[in-house]
Amino acid sequence: MEKMLINGPTKLNGSVRVSRAKNAYLPILAGVLLCEGPVTLKNVPELRDINTMKKLLGNLGVKITGDNSSMTFDSSKIDHVEATYDLVKTMRASICVLGPLLTRFHEAKVSLPGGCAIGSRPIDIHLSNLELLGAEIILEGGYVHAKTKGLKGTSLVLEFPSVGATENILMAAVLAKGNTKIENCALEPEVTDLANFLNAMGAKISGIGTKTLLIEGVEKLTGGEYEAIGDRIEAATYIIAGLMTESEIEVTGFIPEHLEFVINKLKMAGAKFEISENGVKTFPSKLEGIDVDTAPYPGFPTDVQAQFIALATYINGSSVITENIFENRFMHVPELTRMGADITLKGNAAIVKGGKELIGAPVMCTDLRASAALVLAALVAQGETEVQRVYHLDRGYEKLAAKFKELGANIKRMD
Ligand code: EPZ
Repeated sequence: MEKMLINGPTKLNGSVRVSRAKNAYLPILAGVLLCEGPVTLKNVPELRDINTMKKLLGNLGVKITGDNSSMTFDSSKIDHVEATYDLVKTMRASICVLGPLLTRFHEAKVSLPGGCAIGSRPIDIHLSNLELLGAEIILEGGYVHAKTKGLKGTSLVLEFPSVGATENILMAAVLAKGNTKIENCALEPEVTDLANFLNAMGAKISGIGTKTLLIEGVEKLTGGEYEAIGDRIEAATYIIAGLMTESEIEVTGFIPEHLEFVINKLKMAGAKFEISENGVKTFPSKLEGIDVDTAPYPGFPTDVQAQFIALATYINGSSVITENIFENRFMHVPELTRMGADITLKGNAAIVKGGKELIGAPVMCTDLRASAALVLAALVAQGETEVQRVYHLDRGYEKLAAKFKELGANIKRMD
């Protein structure tokens, strides 16, 4: 059973550079399917979710060469358009191959992603807007079977600024005939990064970084080279580690503006930072509890909610953390409680009484960000914590144990 042993309490020092963003490269990998020429991606993180997407692309006929520092994808010989359940069930982001396959090959058969640990995660916004672009969609045998004579540009308004739906529909519109306007788009930096990638491959997208994207359909995308932005969620995880252990560490390789809301919220709680254009330095700070509501970007990211709860259990005072994006994203709470945290769940709110001494214990990972919360708690807990099922962490944190070891943590990975 893959696990990690972490001994606390610990101080950290030095600096850590985060990897390129998982949630930017996953849709960009789907976007590779739109390109007729070779696409070279730089510094692709070694992550389980990235490997799953690579396998899916390989099954579709994409030729992949090179290593993680420089990986080339050739989609000139795609020989079929079906993304099967065995791969899609392990990673719902696979649904983002639907738009590219449909718009380029006029057909796609993608397994319904199904729910996951944090919620049912439907794809109704993806499907209803693809139909408005001219797709004929049949749901049969757990698959989405989409066909079209050719997608046609039109005006769309998303019922909710869904990240995945924005990305899927944006990619479908890029090769549609005519112009498409998508309103109420997600503003997450990873969506912006995807749009920048598509333009670098020959797409014509404007309004990038705003809630309204305008796409002028083009005949084809060529190919080219691209490197994604740094991973702001990984960065937030290390920043919170620095604050929890009252350490001075530097977290680099990302754009601090992408974490503006989180950094300001932590400052309001008493955190001291030094901010440069490509990173943040934490300083030992006396933090007080503070309330947080997760929201679409630029609000507080749901992907930092679990890590913030770990912080809140430890700092003085009470905090109320309200999860407004997913319906079941508190599975780290029972595990943190086993370490001595005082957290009461009331509907979609977690009421955390801070200032607790946490005690090391065997705990179990349930999903990606919950796993990060357990690692953070283990860094400050008295004694040894055995973090089990760490394969959840491998989905989105590249070399986490090595990076924390480099920062001085007492952490061992046992595969
Ligand atoms: C992306 O998921 C991220 N994943 C998630 O990160 C992140 O938590 C989420 O955006 C929100 O920021 C990737 O980018 C690969 P959504 P996505 O569509 O696209 C509802 C991580 O930890 N919804 O914005 O699936 C949905 O149920 C992962 O790295 C519909 O109702 O998120 C949810 O409640 C976890 N119908 C809300 O919208 C739809 O058609 C937000 O989902 C689509 C979504």
